Order: sequence, then structure tokens, then C-alpha cells
Amino acid sequence: MSQNVTYLDHPLIQHKISMLRDIKTGTNEFRKLTEEIAMLMGYEALRDLPLEDIEVTTPLETCRTPMITGKKLAIVPILRAGLGMVNGILALTPTAKVGHIGLYRDHDTHEPHEYYCKLPSPIEQRTIVVLDPMLATGGSAVSAVDFIKKHGGKTIKFMSIIAAPEGVKRLCDAHPDIQLYIGHLDRELNEDKYICPGLGDAGDRIFGTK
Ligand code: PRP
Ligand code: URA
Repeated sequence: MSQNVTYLDHPLIQHKISMLRDIKTGTNEFRKLTEEIAMLMGYEALRDLPLEDIEVTTPLETCRTPMITGKKLAIVPILRAGLGMVNGILALTPTAKVGHIGLYRDHDTHEPHEYYCKLPSPIEQRTIVVLDPMLATGGSAVSAVDFIKKHGGKTIKFMSIIAAPEGVKRLCDAHPDIQLYIGHLDRELNEDKYICPGLGDAGDRIFGTK
């Protein structure tokens, strides 16, 4: 598969994804796990964040030492389920700006519909990290990246906890210039375009709706 896709096979991530899948995992635990997985994935996905040397005085001397340039990062969750990953990334980079893209999948056609879009401006110089726990057909991910590019976004990473092969292919084909970070690649989509084995409806499980 594409060189732009990184599968995060760390045991801590895999263990927590297994807990997330479990039908017995309730809303509170599901939220906590989603946040923790996002943070662990973010550790890897943000390894190329730009650094800037600043002057720091230690108890012994003054030195120049690298710090992340916080202004350069934007996090963009896809509503609703992507919201569950935001705090995990903000725990790593508290000064990041946060944009939102509202998309829902039509139950019959499975195509995404946009209902909200608010991105930090200007966005051209930022690394943009799009968050969505589920990459199923890839329709929502492709639309979200389309919007971001239309607004001027150039450096884009997409983080997803569980993906189907169909979604990874569709996103890579549509946007070969972005980096994908996937927690686990599942077997397939079922006829309702749910990921199998998956974890069910991520938005419903995070927000306790149904
Ligand atoms: C889910 C999920 C993704 C999308 C993935 O959202 O959070 O955004 O489906 O499916 P796709 O790859 O086939 O587009 P949903 O549309 O259920 O909205 P919700 O988060 O508001 O529940
Ligand atoms: N959206 C979800 O929340 N789960 C899936 O399996 C597919 C799309």
C-alpha cells in the first residue's frame, strides 16, 4: 500500500483499540479510550512538527534549545466523532488552533453531506491534522480534505483509529499528497458500509446516542 500510510502497530494502541471495539465498553470508557488512542497516535503523527530554537536559562547556563512552534498547527475534527480525539491531541500541543468540519453520511446513499465548516485563518502555513476515528468508504475524509484544500490548506495529515481498505484506497487516490495515520486496518465494509469487525457507530458510542 501507499508510502503515505502509516499503520500504528504499537501494543498500547492495539490494546486500547480492542477495548474500544468491545460492545460492553460504555460511553464514559469509550470517550476516555478514544482520547488516549488519539494521544498515542499523535505522538507518532506529529514527529515532524517544526521546531524552533529558543533561549532558555537552566540553573547552570543559558542555551538555545528546540521548542515546537505552536502557531503552525491546526487540528480539524470531523463532526461528530472526530471531537472525541481532540483532547488527546491538545494534551500534546495545547496551543494548536482547532477548526471544525461538520459532515454526516446519508443513511441510504452513504454519501457525506456538509453542514458546518469553520477553519483557522490563515491556514496556508499550518500543518493541519484532520481527526476522524472511522475511515469507512472514505467519502467523508475526501470531502473534508477537499474543503481544507479549497480554503488554502496544503500540509495535511489524516488520523483515523480504524480504517477499511476501501477508505484508505479512496483517500490515497483522491489526495495522494497527504499523510495517513491509521490505528488498525480492518477486514472490509459490510453492505451498510460499516467497518467490520469495527466498533459500530463511533459518534453514537462517544455521545451515547442511538
Ligand atoms: C462517521 C464517521 C466518519 C464517517 C465515515 O460519521 O465518524 O465521519 O462516518 O464514513 P465514510 O468513510 O463512509 O464517509 P457519521 O456520518 O456517522 O456522522 P456522526 O459522526 O455525526 O455520527
Ligand atoms: N461510521 C462509523 O461510525 N462506523 C463505521 O463502521 C462506518 C462509518
